[in-house]
Amino acid sequence: MLVNLRRVTELDAGVELQYLTGLARLEFFHPGIVRIQLSRSPCPAEKISDTVIAKPGDEFQIEQKPDQMIISTDLLKLIIPEGAFRFEIYDRAEKLLSRDFPNLGPGFGDRDFALSRFIFPDEEFFGLGDKYGPLNRKGKVWIFWNQDVGSRHFERDPRYTSIPFLISTRPGAITGWFFDHPGFLQIDLGKKYPGLMSVSGVGDSLDCYFFYGASIKELLSLFTELTGRAPIPPIWSLGYHQSRYSYFSQDEVLKIAEEFRNRGIPLSAIHLDIHYMDRYQPFTIDQKRFPSLAELARKLADMGIRLVSIIDPGLKVSKNYAPYLEAQSKGYLCVDEKGKEYHRKLWPGESAFPDFFRKDVQEFWAEQHKILFEKGISGIWDDMNEPSFWKRDLRLGKLVVSFQAERYPEMVHQVYDSKVKHLECRNLYGQKELEATVLAFKKFQPGKRPFILSRSGFAGIQKLCAVWTGDSRSCFQHLAGSIKQILSWGLSGVSFSGADIGGFAKDCSPELYARWIQLGAFYPFCRTHSCIGTKPQEPYQFGREVEDIAREYIRLRYRFLPTLYSLFWESSQTGIPIWRPLFLEFPDDFVVKEIEDQFMVGEFLLLAPVLKRKARERRLYLPEGRWIDFWDKKQYSGPGWIKVPAELRRMPIFVRESAILALQANADLRIPWQELEFEIYPGERSGRFQLYEDDGESQDYLNGEFSLREFQISRTNEGFKLSIGPKQGLFPIQARQVKLRFYALNSEPRVILDGRAMENAHWHPEKNLLEMEFILKDAALEICIAANFLDTI
Ligand code: GLC
Repeated sequence: MLVNLRRVTELDAGVELQYLTGLARLEFFHPGIVRIQLSRSPCPAEKISDTVIAKPGDEFQIEQKPDQMIISTDLLKLIIPEGAFRFEIYDRAEKLLSRDFPNLGPGFGDRDFALSRFIFPDEEFFGLGDKYGPLNRKGKVWIFWNQDVGSRHFERDPRYTSIPFLISTRPGAITGWFFDHPGFLQIDLGKKYPGLMSVSGVGDSLDCYFFYGASIKELLSLFTELTGRAPIPPIWSLGYHQSRYSYFSQDEVLKIAEEFRNRGIPLSAIHLDIHYMDRYQPFTIDQKRFPSLAELARKLADMGIRLVSIIDPGLKVSKNYAPYLEAQSKGYLCVDEKGKEYHRKLWPGESAFPDFFRKDVQEFWAEQHKILFEKGISGIWDDMNEPSFWKRDLRLGKLVVSFQAERYPEMVHQVYDSKVKHLECRNLYGQKELEATVLAFKKFQPGKRPFILSRSGFAGIQKLCAVWTGDSRSCFQHLAGSIKQILSWGLSGVSFSGADIGGFAKDCSPELYARWIQLGAFYPFCRTHSCIGTKPQEPYQFGREVEDIAREYIRLRYRFLPTLYSLFWESSQTGIPIWRPLFLEFPDDFVVKEIEDQFMVGEFLLLAPVLKRKARERRLYLPEGRWIDFWDKKQYSGPGWIKVPAELRRMPIFVRESAILALQANADLRIPWQELEFEIYPGERSGRFQLYEDDGESQDYLNGEFSLREFQISRTNEGFKLSIGPKQGLFPIQARQVKLRFYALNSEPRVILDGRAMENAHWHPEKNLLEMEFILKDAALEICIAANFLDTI
């Protein structure tokens, strides 16, 4: 406990309270963000985590009263009573937002700390990254200790990534916590005692941030402002990826690519799993299996397909392996507490692990990627970076497959000038490798956007790479689970995520694949991947019907790319995720709080995937407003539950009234989008969509080389008005033909484009559809439509 206050020092953006037994430092980053740093020693231990990139600097006032100190900003009021360090947080209307658990202040043990807060009876919790299970995290203990869970224990905690960011909702109060602690951490949300949130971890200081916002969306914006927003991915990485553990030869890879092309299934990337390496040694190439990788990459590039290659962090301990010898001679490898090089088994056998916390080691690691980029690899897949390793080899045929990961290795890291125990920084290990991989792209692909896929990481990972949920199994349960994981990642700052389509371990059935590809086609990161020994899992391996379904949905993904890419842009600006739980868009609807098998993609699309075997219909909930079935354009009105048919080829998709959806006619990755179409669903509300375009691969967008256009649909006396704002940004776009489709109108409308009656608007009475084409130039324009919308059923 921090007792006996000795001194109060005002800082630029906060205040430091020196107690006899330690230190409390409070700093403001924003009127709604306070950092609370507690330390047992007189000054806080040197920071291990550099995940927060924002700097403190907000105004505050201090008021000293005889029995308490009050620190306030424009939004918050902190009350620190006299005596042992405690704190209560109020909003400016005196609503209590957070308080200590009675008689339990923050405290320190021998080598750990604990923070205890009161849980309000109506409080619910969300976030915490890829944790499995219901989105509401209340009533459980959550552990943060990056772990290779493996397919057998897929539902277990801890998991691959650690994002200790928590959103708390109560009627009238949206708050959040971020525990910036990369060592072992445990958060009990009322399991031991209902009403007690207790956060404990290993280390000498606790560093956490309290957030207060008007909505969950605002909280996510604040959190990503603090930890960094995601860059815009290269456009090719938003296409469909095909992977397998493993494609065993370059002939096989080429055959897969040809098969996709012949069958007309769009494909943008193939992943090379561990067998492309020479005996699983990172940064080598198996010359028998891949004798001319560069040629393969060239051939694929001609077909518009990129290669992504896996890299594991373990360097084989061997006299004949150059990366290991170099790392060893330069002292770049992790050691144990006695200074001895730390070895564990990984795919290549006895392996050593680079100490990615050091900048020089990151440089070294980046440099190793030269061979891959020289051969034409476009993306890097950083796997096993929890790090995962095991003590003994367990063999399956020729393969090492055991996941006997140790919980507490004696590894030691060099963080700045100090030696830090693995126990205090493990959860950042993978992230530090990712920083090195980003550096590799800077070196070998200057000016291009990196594409990196990672299994492990820490809060703030969104600024570095895409993530996937790891080794799931081919079952309906994991199909459904992937929705929650992706939504939860979104509630933790991470948008660019996906799961292995079809499931990783075990054979995937045709029905499961059909259902999974329908959903997966909308994953922000869209890749089929499967384990060694399982049945082939390319989309055409399940018979004609499923192949047709896969083709249709993968094409649909590409058709939606103008919308998806714009959502990635939005997320890079605001931190608001692409996949959103219904409660993000409908916060006042109490029914949606419980709905976790339906979700929104952006603001306008509601997806209700089929998650049960043999199901051929789907019951789903439509929140308030008019909704249009994307497939048959039937109208519905919410709120309420409906049942719709969902034969194998149909995943129910509903469009919210006033939606503006940007699509392209073909499966194309060229931007500016070549054959742009807009589907517009007029309604009572106003709708707004921003179309974002840039060159899709360079960093020039950061210097203004992008194009942004605002589309707005609103109600007028006569019907509707679509306003298209002027083009903004420096990315040039030639005047182009665009198609507009207005759905669900009740009668043939008169159409006025920029004040003149439009001749070539086509009315399709049987579909209640108005279609028109015109040339879109840089200037703003307005289209007025005199018609009403159809009645709902
Ligand atoms: C791990 C990965 C998996 C990969 C396998 C072999 O299990 O999670 O995706 O295929 O290793 O590299």
